[in-house]
Amino acid sequence: MAMTGVDPARQWLDWAWLLMTDRFIPIAEARYRTSAPTIPESLEPPDGRLVDRLGRRLHDLRISVTDRCNFRCGYCMPREIFDTAYKFLPHSSLLTFEEIERLARVFVAHGTRKIRLTGGEPLLRKHVEDLIAMLARLRAPDGEPLELTLTTNASLLARKARALRDAGLHRVTISLDALDDAIFRRMNDAEFPVSDVLEGIEAAQAAGLGPIKVNMVIRRGINDDQILPMARHFRGTGIILRFIEYMDVGSSNGWRLDDVVPGREVIARIGAHFPVEPVDRRYVGEVAERWRYIDGEGEIGVITSVTQPFCQDCSRARLSTEGRLYTCLFASEGHDLRALLRTGASDLMIANAIGLVWQRRQDRYSEIRSEASVSRSQAGQKIEMSYIGG
Ligand code: GTP
Ligand code: 5AD
Ligand code: SF4
Ligand code: SF4
Repeated sequence: MAMTGVDPARQWLDWAWLLMTDRFIPIAEARYRTSAPTIPESLEPPDGRLVDRLGRRLHDLRISVTDRCNFRCGYCMPREIFDTAYKFLPHSSLLTFEEIERLARVFVAHGTRKIRLTGGEPLLRKHVEDLIAMLARLRAPDGEPLELTLTTNASLLARKARALRDAGLHRVTISLDALDDAIFRRMNDAEFPVSDVLEGIEAAQAAGLGPIKVNMVIRRGINDDQILPMARHFRGTGIILRFIEYMDVGSSNGWRLDDVVPGREVIARIGAHFPVEPVDRRYVGEVAERWRYIDGEGEIGVITSVTQPFCQDCSRARLSTEGRLYTCLFASEGHDLRALLRTGASDLMIANAIGLVWQRRQDRYSEIRSEASVSRSQAGQKIEMSYIGG
């Protein structure tokens, strides 16, 4: 049985309203292609061992709780596109906390053991700690709690760290692209100072939200001179700094390969000042390649999705703010789970629909980047990172 994903009356109203405005900018729901998930005829209870066509598990679920952010990082939400005319999702489109929890439960039955809340900026979603408390109560079949984590720009973290911890969040990952205040303000394009992020990091540490990871996206000529100051600052603090290769996600950031600083170069630059040695990956599918300072001052990582892709172990599914399932960060089409939720499908039906999507999955965009970017232009608009979350 195939279920229809979009309410035609609702979609017509969206389009009509948009046509009346002076700039034609569709809201996310209308902007990206979506398909109605298929519910198989014969329903099987999930056995926790779901794999895709390349044998990859569904271990990790990333849930975007808002498509909004108070920063305008050029590599993610450039201000010329994400301006005052930009149409973010209306509140009625968002999955409710109850809907998110219900889906999360189904994913856990399929084998998911780690949940990351993302955005946009997830702390902008009102009462997000209530959602965290609901997710913290979920258990794997063996009774173990899930690993529950969140990625944030830290702008609201100093205020919220304690409440997040009390709600049951285990740890946070914080984005920080420079220590130099002028460079950081230029990169976030929202006049946000470095000192507030550092305060957020301290609050997270004090609240016990560790081990804390700091993610730094590097763009050549923009913040690559911050690699060493950042390494020096976080050495010996117990915080794990990770250097991320700038990626061609979405279609608004004007990505060029020349802007990418390869992970190898980052390690060589740091190693020349503070010798490092490689460390084994902690688990299959870990995105970061780990290194440690030989003098015992801690660990760093590089995330080399451009120069050394890691698709072969990719066990991550992504749920967008309005309930679409994406099986790759670079997908151009999502599967409308909200339509299933809101048309009365049972948990078993939803589990089977998700199972089918995953069984058919064969994404490995980063490994086939060059061919994919050619076919992509015919395939539909790539989703933005702010829509689906890092
Ligand atoms: P932990 O191991 O739980 O700390 O998280 P993680 O290593 O999964 O890392 P995190 O969620 O902080 O991701 C860091 C960055 O890696 C993201 O912001 C992306 O830039 C990149 N990344 C994460 N997952 C993927 C992925 O599936 N594909 C690609 N191409 N990049 C990814
Ligand atoms: N390339 C790499 N990482 C990105 N992020 C957002 N846009 C990009 C991009 N173009 C990631 C960063 C940031 C998180 C929220 O999303 O890690 O810290
Ligand atoms: Fe916001 Fe994070 Fe995107 Fe920057 S990278 S605009 S902080 S969601
Ligand atoms: Fe996974 Fe797609 Fe990233 Fe490859 S490019 S690691 S398949 S999300």
